[in-house]
Amino acid sequence: MIVITGATGTIGSEIVRQLIERGVKVRAVTRDPDRARFPGGVEVVRGDYADTASMAAAMTGAEAAFLVGLLGPDYVELDRALVAAARDAGVRRVVKLSAIGTGDAALGRVGTWHLPGEQAVRDSGVAWTILRPSSFASNTFSWIDPVRAGGPVPNLTGSGAQGVIDPRDVAAVAVAALLSPDHDGRVYTLTGPRALTAHEQAAALSEALGRPIEVIDVPLETAREHMLAAGMSAEFADGAMAGQAYVREGGNARVTGDVEAVLGRPPRGYAEWARDHAAAFTG
Ligand SMILES: NC(=O)c1ccc[n+]([C@@H]2O[C@H](COP(=O)([O-])OP(=O)(O)OC[C@H]3O[C@@H](n4cnc5c(N)ncnc54)[C@H](OP(=O)(O)O)[C@@H]3O)[C@@H](O)[C@H]2O)c1
Repeated sequence: MIVITGATGTIGSEIVRQLIERGVKVRAVTRDPDRARFPGGVEVVRGDYADTASMAAAMTGAEAAFLVGLLGPDYVELDRALVAAARDAGVRRVVKLSAIGTGDAALGRVGTWHLPGEQAVRDSGVAWTILRPSSFASNTFSWIDPVRAGGPVPNLTGSGAQGVIDPRDVAAVAVAALLSPDHDGRVYTLTGPRALTAHEQAAALSEALGRPIEVIDVPLETAREHMLAAGMSAEFADGAMAGQAYVREGGNARVTGDVEAVLGRPPRGYAEWARDHAAAFTG
């Protein structure tokens, strides 16, 4: 039995799908089992990181767990508690979803947000693997509305490139690490095959859709104001903008061979992701 937290999310939902395809027993954790949709055969349980008893119950009887912490300065204790819940329930292997740049001083505070959770995993006494993916290809789902409306898509990262990764590849690496001891004690930095700017991603999406997509560069101060207006804390907005500035300056223009080393094949590129998800942009 493998427990998947964040099971309704981008990476967790794909892990659930891939594990079920392999005939593995899966327990999916969500705060709202009535709303969540999973493939047949998945055991669905209610779990909230803030509710210790629910997470203890969710972890009981599992051999391995996929841990999706919540990103931000307010969630450090919940991240630690999530690891403790797995350890205390006797889970033997955990795979933690972290992020590229974690621990890099140049990234500022956002680069520290996953550190306590990573440290808790290392200190847990449980076999562990840490995944530090680059920017998800699926982040461009945020472009759906402007693309459908024929308007320009917003770009916060200037001409900074990133090793954009397909979430299906992050999930495939997680599945490998959940099912085999070969990845115990490893930290994988997961990227796509090449570093792409947002303009290059828009060009690839444009090619997949067969129509032009314009890009509009958004000043970070404007983006920060939008985040504050949406109710996010100044600390979170500042951290997030420091992350965007890091990308603009070329700090995240990294490509690694970790996906290929684990999966034995190259990672999928953004153009493939765009072709496979084109329908979402056309409505
Ligand atoms: N986006 C990127 O480019 C990127 C790149 C690198 C790393 N990351 C990392 O990826 C992680 C997010 O993963 P994701 O994108 O797969 O997730 P996601 O799509 O943002 O979904 C969040 C998940 O967390 C669950 N969740 C939220 N609050 C919860 C709570 N209090 N208790 C239990 N579950 C809760 C949600 O489940 P329910 O709503 O069903 O309860 C949902 O499944 C972050 O840690 C981020 O740092 C993201």
